[in-house]
Amino acid sequence: MGFSVVILAAGKGTRMKSSLPKVLHKVGGIPMVQRIINTVEAMSAQNVHLVYGHGGDQLKSAVNGKHLNWCLQAEQLGTGHAVKQAAEHIQDDEDVMILVGDAPLIQQQTLERLVAVKAECDLALLTVELDDPTGMGRIVRNGEQITAIVEHKDASEAQRNIREINTGMMIMGGANLKRWLNALGNDNAQGEYYLTDVIEMAAKEGKVIKAAQPDSAVEVEGVNNRIHLAGIERALQQREAVKLMTNGATLADPARIDVRGNVSTGQDVFIDINVIMQGTVTIGHNASIGANCVLIDCEIGDNAVIDSHSVIEGASVGENCTVGPFARLRPGAVMKTDAKVGNFVEMKKSVLGEGAKANHLTYLGDAEVGAKANIGAGTITCNYDGVNKSKTIIGENAFIGSNSSLVAPVKIGEGATVGAGSVITSEVRKDALAVARGKQRNIEGWNRPVKKND
Ligand code: UD1
Ligand code: CA
Repeated sequence: MGFSVVILAAGKGTRMKSSLPKVLHKVGGIPMVQRIINTVEAMSAQNVHLVYGHGGDQLKSAVNGKHLNWCLQAEQLGTGHAVKQAAEHIQDDEDVMILVGDAPLIQQQTLERLVAVKAECDLALLTVELDDPTGMGRIVRNGEQITAIVEHKDASEAQRNIREINTGMMIMGGANLKRWLNALGNDNAQGEYYLTDVIEMAAKEGKVIKAAQPDSAVEVEGVNNRIHLAGIERALQQREAVKLMTNGATLADPARIDVRGNVSTGQDVFIDINVIMQGTVTIGHNASIGANCVLIDCEIGDNAVIDSHSVIEGASVGENCTVGPFARLRPGAVMKTDAKVGNFVEMKKSVLGEGAKANHLTYLGDAEVGAKANIGAGTITCNYDGVNKSKTIIGENAFIGSNSSLVAPVKIGEGATVGAGSVITSEVRKDALAVARGKQRNIEGWNRPVKKND
């Protein structure tokens, strides 16, 4: 049989000083609790019971999961009381893993280790040794045997010297858990129903209790305020940077990138400083991303060069393309192989064909540009009449002179030429030249006006 998960997330998070429930604060662009849900779903957890207290509506609209079961803990009477809110959904013959909603860096491999230890005993705890264990529950052992967890506030002087602490994460059989939860009392320093009292009950019944450890302490570190949040964010970014470098990307400075989602990179990718990658970003082999670029839900093809200060969102950049510096590709922008977009060019819902170029100062919206077409500096596709959006279609090898306005809906044929400064309002046929601008008139020997004396 598999296992189910209970995530404790009902705490108020007062120290965040926020109108947002604590577990909705984001780490790497994803709410903390969503990261934990994603991790356990990747392990095929059967049911995920989320114990919540504050901000239920906010939580429900921000968080999702395949097998998510919402359990309200109306009053926060302690971690044991919190788990109890999920008890009616717990099967006797399944294992139940308990996690905390505010420790977002917990890794799948660590939880798998915890599951593996549980297979050899009755109750497995995730513990860690801290230099400063102040405030944490201490793991009390008799020799090797774990006999109890004592909360800091209830601990004796001797117990406070113990450096092995309870991370709050553990796994045990459903029937045992439910029986022990029913026996919990709240006669302690905080007047709370402590989940940790379950450990002593288990030990007294002669159950075998074992511990597993995470790869590093940061995995089990909880966020209580925004200073912790910033620390956890940096730790995550460091982890993401290591992942990218391990997969063959060179980072100009691993401390100066931000990954806020899922990024995959080919070999020999180069990423310069201060690049933000958000959502799902795929970067092909040998591609290069310049300083200060923002990449959101996009695909960058092999050998593409994205120069500095470019913002690419919901777009696809083909192989060997060049983009920027200072370019903006908005949703629906598609650049085919070898296409070029230069500085101060904006593309939206438009296709730039193979080898086509828009090198300077251009807006392409709702446009289809054929292969090898050249879009001159300052070209605007006028796609919006104030009410409706219309399309501009530009054929292969067309040449659009600088500072032209193409008033959509309009078609420019294959190989057609548009003179600089034209306002094009009707179709230009294949191979034709269209010039639509005021005709130049010269007046010889022009006397400039002189300043009047009065
Ligand atoms: C708890 C543990 C402690 C451990 C520490 C690790 C208990 C009694 N103590 O202490 O041994 O070292 O975590 O961080 O379990 N929560 C609820 N409902 C409640 C109370 C808490 O959902 O009524 C949730 C919180 O939102 C949080 C988690 O449970 O996600 C832990 O609660 P917290 O108050 O931080 O527990 P600690 O006192 O730190
Ligand atoms: Ca805590």
